[in-house]
Amino acid sequence: MGYKVVVAGATGNVGREMLNILAEREFPADEVVALASRRSIGTEVSYGDKTLKCKDIEGFDFTGYDIALFAIGSDATKIYAPIAASQGCVVIDNSSLYRYDPEIPLIVPEVNPDAVENYRNKMIIANPNCSTAQMVVALKPLHDRARIKRVVVSTYQSVSGAGKEGMDELWNQTKGMYVPGQEVEPKKFQKQIAFNVIPQIDVFLDSGDTKEEWKMVAETKKILDTSIKVTATCVRVPVFVGHSEAINIETEDFLDEDEARDILREAPGILVIDKREPGGYATPVECVGDFATFVSRIRQDVTVENGLNLWCVSDNLRKGAALNAVQIAELLGNRVLKKG
Ligand SMILES: NC(=O)c1ccc[n+]([C@@H]2O[C@H](COP(=O)([O-])OP(=O)(O)OC[C@H]3O[C@@H](n4cnc5c(N)ncnc54)[C@H](OP(=O)(O)O)[C@@H]3O)[C@@H](O)[C@H]2O)c1
Repeated sequence: MGYKVVVAGATGNVGREMLNILAEREFPADEVVALASRRSIGTEVSYGDKTLKCKDIEGFDFTGYDIALFAIGSDATKIYAPIAASQGCVVIDNSSLYRYDPEIPLIVPEVNPDAVENYRNKMIIANPNCSTAQMVVALKPLHDRARIKRVVVSTYQSVSGAGKEGMDELWNQTKGMYVPGQEVEPKKFQKQIAFNVIPQIDVFLDSGDTKEEWKMVAETKKILDTSIKVTATCVRVPVFVGHSEAINIETEDFLDEDEARDILREAPGILVIDKREPGGYATPVECVGDFATFVSRIRQDVTVENGLNLWCVSDNLRKGAALNAVQIAELLGNRVLKKG
């Protein structure tokens, strides 16, 4: 007997990708139900070679369902996740609502799989922010070997991280720019995104950091190690899918760049592409639709005692959201629920 699975937010960027990945990875599901808002009742979404018709999440009875993968934003999650959990269905949530709750596990399966046992606290598991997920996958094996003390990261984040409206805005502005004299009016983003970069993702905090930057700090500590210092600058770039990160790492012990490359080659979830020649590195275009976190440009930072630089790229809708959520479902299934 397999699992009964709910995908909430099935019409969205992450929801559609979760359905694709459940099918691609042959998740042992006997039944998959697609939910979205009332606006989307009857909207057809693909699940492998099947087509599902979306139902309204309002009033949906989660009783008898094992796992609900949520990607509906924090406001709607606040209403529906507690309902699903109280009806006995484990929620794996992509929003930021529960990530910082000490009772709720925040999981990247390659990094802290044991935390899954804590799902029992509230029947909810949180999925990290897209930029954090790919970064901690790359940091974990290096931390195990040489103890990371400090991370300085700059991100180059695609517009799909801001949902389907973000993708539409880049598309419409890019088309619009070819019409001479056409004015560009930002809606989803704070400034023009086509042919531009914007050093603001989410709101500003009193510290001067943005909330996205704060999330990378808080989530890395919760998932990997509370003692690691992280400072981040998060930037939106005119790329449809795929987040990139330039990561500078300072370690307790010396780690040679060749050994770091070998460690990363062996690490789960990572694909090293690091030829020191033109084009011998990963870019977002190549990572779209892939499961891996790509690591390139691994090199010593000689300006500090024990320093390394690397370039990390991943499909934000996959490792940054949908894939990680499905991996958590697999972990929960294999370790705890044990069906299928
Ligand atoms: N995109 C990423 O890289 C990424 C990464 C990590 C986490 N996340 C998180 O994942 C969540 C979804 O992001 P997304 O990029 O998929 O957004 P999206 O493309 O804008 O899709 C939003 C989804 O939520 C549904 N929804 C919105 N309000 C709802 C309500 N009141 N009741 C029921 N369903 C509702 C929408 O349904 P309708 O079509 O019916 O409106 C749609 O299916 C967000 O919390 C986001 O922060 C996204």
